[in-house]
Amino acid sequence: MTHAYLDNAATTPVAPEVVQAMMEVYQTVHGNPSSTHAPGRKAKALVETSRRSIASHLGCPPRTICFTSGGTEADNHAIQAAVASLGVRRIITSAAEHSAVVKASSAAGESQHVDVVHVQHLPDGQVDFADLERLLKETDTPTLVSLMHANNEVGVMVDLARLSAVCRAQGAWIHSDTVQSMGHYPLDLGTMDVDFLTCSAHKFHGPKGAGFLYVNPTLRIHGMIVGGGQERMLRGGTENVAGIVGLAKAFDLAFEHMAEHEAHIRALKRRMAEGLKGCVPGVVFNGESDREDRLYTVLNAKFPNHPNGGMAVFLLDLEGIACSGGSACSSGATLGSHVLRALGFHEPDKASIRFSFSRYTTESDIDRALEAVGKVFASVEQPA
Ligand SMILES: Cc1ncc(COP(=O)(O)O)c(C=O)c1O
Repeated sequence: MTHAYLDNAATTPVAPEVVQAMMEVYQTVHGNPSSTHAPGRKAKALVETSRRSIASHLGCPPRTICFTSGGTEADNHAIQAAVASLGVRRIITSAAEHSAVVKASSAAGESQHVDVVHVQHLPDGQVDFADLERLLKETDTPTLVSLMHANNEVGVMVDLARLSAVCRAQGAWIHSDTVQSMGHYPLDLGTMDVDFLTCSAHKFHGPKGAGFLYVNPTLRIHGMIVGGGQERMLRGGTENVAGIVGLAKAFDLAFEHMAEHEAHIRALKRRMAEGLKGCVPGVVFNGESDREDRLYTVLNAKFPNHPNGGMAVFLLDLEGIACSGGSACSSGATLGSHVLRALGFHEPDKASIRFSFSRYTTESDIDRALEAVGKVFASVEQPA
């Protein structure tokens, strides 16, 4: 039995067209892009064509795209560059960010005496913009604001245009982790004024280990990985040519069919949310993740207290459903994710499970998941 795969926020299946494009590179292109001979130039041309193609979808100059090994590296690079190259001494971020941002910020705090402060969230999980404005006005220390576009666990979203306006009004730099939204939402960097955005190919049917950092063309920053002059001195190391070609192909497919994919995924998410409400009375959605203005690929459900709660993700796996939830501690109780805790949604006696969807998810996957959830959370017979 193959699993119904509902963990697409963790990673997505690679599109066959992407596999084909990468295979062709592995079979026919063996030069190092830094070599000046013909095979090297062929590899270099593929890297640059990929960069131009990605930039054209985002409306930015190709030189603003710096290829990386994915989202974690790009997030680290943005934060380290803000401190080392732009003179940032204060980072305003959130405890609900991906750990790449949480840890890169706290590392800057510890090793470089940067002040790290956390913005508050509203009860529904959204960033409290009034608190952000208050924090920005507190001091004129050079500041980076790092807030993700779409939260990977509960799907709350930040309005990037508003973020840009609020930060620019106070002269702050802006980084947004766009790993979960890139390839799922249009982003127009011709009109959006931000400093750093991050991308990971494996979140939209590209290969793992490939992504990029967008760097605003007005900035001059240093590389984080040194040792080679690749990526205009921003990222040393021989380029992952096949990965970059796969990333660009996945980007093309995502942007060309975005509206169609979105409509398909939204319909499945609605089916899942309605189905859960029908089969488990009392289920609620963390961060109101069933709302239409939340990340449309993610639904995070909190189930009523149940003896199977702590083991639910494991039991669903046995039923052939791949989804994700908080890690279990040695006592078997759910520890919960740092995101749910930061947003105040964690309740130790209630299981929270994230179901996440892609263009390859089917109605039958949803129906299988609902049946399995119904079994796992079946009402417990009370002793007579
Ligand atoms: C919001 C967010 N940022 C960063 C990352 C890290 O990306 P990568 O797996 O490419 O390092 C992830 C992946 O889980 C993510 O969801």
